[in-house]
Amino acid sequence: MNKLRVGVIGLGMGRHHIAGYQGSPAAEVVAVADPNDARLSEIGDKYGIATRYISAEAMLEKEQLDIVSIATPNKYHRSLTLAAFAAGAHVLCEKPMAMNAEEGRQMLEAARRADKRLMINFSYRFTEQSMALKSLVEEGILGDVYFARTIWHRRRGLPGFGGWFGQKALSGGGPLIDLGVHRLDLALWLMGYPKPVWVMGSAYSPIGSALALEKGAQFDVEDLAVAMIKFENGATLELEASWAANISERELMETRLFGTKAGLVQRNLEETYKFEAEVYLERDGAHYNMKLHGPTRPVPTSMAHFVDSIVNDTPHIAPGEEGLRVMEILDAIYASATLGQPVRV
Ligand SMILES: NC(=O)c1ccc[n+]([C@@H]2O[C@H](COP(=O)([O-])OP(=O)(O)OC[C@H]3O[C@@H](n4cnc5c(N)ncnc54)[C@H](O)[C@@H]3O)[C@@H](O)[C@H]2O)c1
Repeated sequence: MNKLRVGVIGLGMGRHHIAGYQGSPAAEVVAVADPNDARLSEIGDKYGIATRYISAEAMLEKEQLDIVSIATPNKYHRSLTLAAFAAGAHVLCEKPMAMNAEEGRQMLEAARRADKRLMINFSYRFTEQSMALKSLVEEGILGDVYFARTIWHRRRGLPGFGGWFGQKALSGGGPLIDLGVHRLDLALWLMGYPKPVWVMGSAYSPIGSALALEKGAQFDVEDLAVAMIKFENGATLELEASWAANISERELMETRLFGTKAGLVQRNLEETYKFEAEVYLERDGAHYNMKLHGPTRPVPTSMAHFVDSIVNDTPHIAPGEEGLRVMEILDAIYASATLGQPVRV
């Protein structure tokens, strides 16, 4: 069988996409694109990819790709996704899906018109802990979920300070759209992606703005955002995200679901990117803690999952529709923060 031809655009996070595809026997990364010449050479050499482009558009025109992975600054997700569909490829786009929901809608519409797949790289689903919890939730272990809390805080972790992450015109926002997007997706996925109706959000930037002033750097996004999201089914979700906060932890991630029969937590260990998962049950008047010890089966990368879904003609997880729902919630949080009152989604 011919391998699927993959092109990767943007070689920061994009290098992990290359590694992900190279772990799949059914795909081959045949070309990469990045306007940064030094990065293009470094990553091309490191991963053994000879066909390199300064222009993503030129790559799309020449290479007849089956899959395009997009890992550029958020501003370019929409235009490159549209160009990739026009070139006849399926798209795996980094999170956040786009700068806002309107762009996300255009991407989804383009996917439907081209009859191609759009997956968003919600990579925190692809851990043993997240996958195991999802199976348990689908078996009904929690009963009805009525409350959840999902957070990602950093003591000081402003990515590439002075660069595109802190410029709203390139990023769409700060830690909410950068980190919060992952924890929001994880909570929504475990909750079964309920339909949001109301959002109350706040955004602040005391630490980031002061640092920018001191260093003469560009920074016009929040450094902390919080929100309460109310769903049609009556459930409530609290979301918190920061790049800079006066807490003890360097990196703090936690997602909790509260159900009528049990609750769960997925959180990072010792301020790292390693995770643990637990479920808290009540049965016959007794309380039990169920801790996940080591995985029993390996979890594929999001890239390998996307390839397998295409090859086997099965649905992929993290579809564009869910990316769009996340964007709608993020838009409402930013709008609520600006207006200083709750906003309907
Ligand atoms: N899923 C995750 O865990 C995860 C982790 C990090 C970043 N990301 C996402 O990946 C994307 C990139 O983030 P990053 O940290 O790699 O940023 P980065 O700045 O390190 O890298 C972005 C790269 O894109 C290139 N680029 C810019 N414009 C381009 C264009 N028009 N065409 C092709 N290449 C272009 C830049 O030269 C740069 O090499 C963002 O959307 C970010 O949110 C996701």
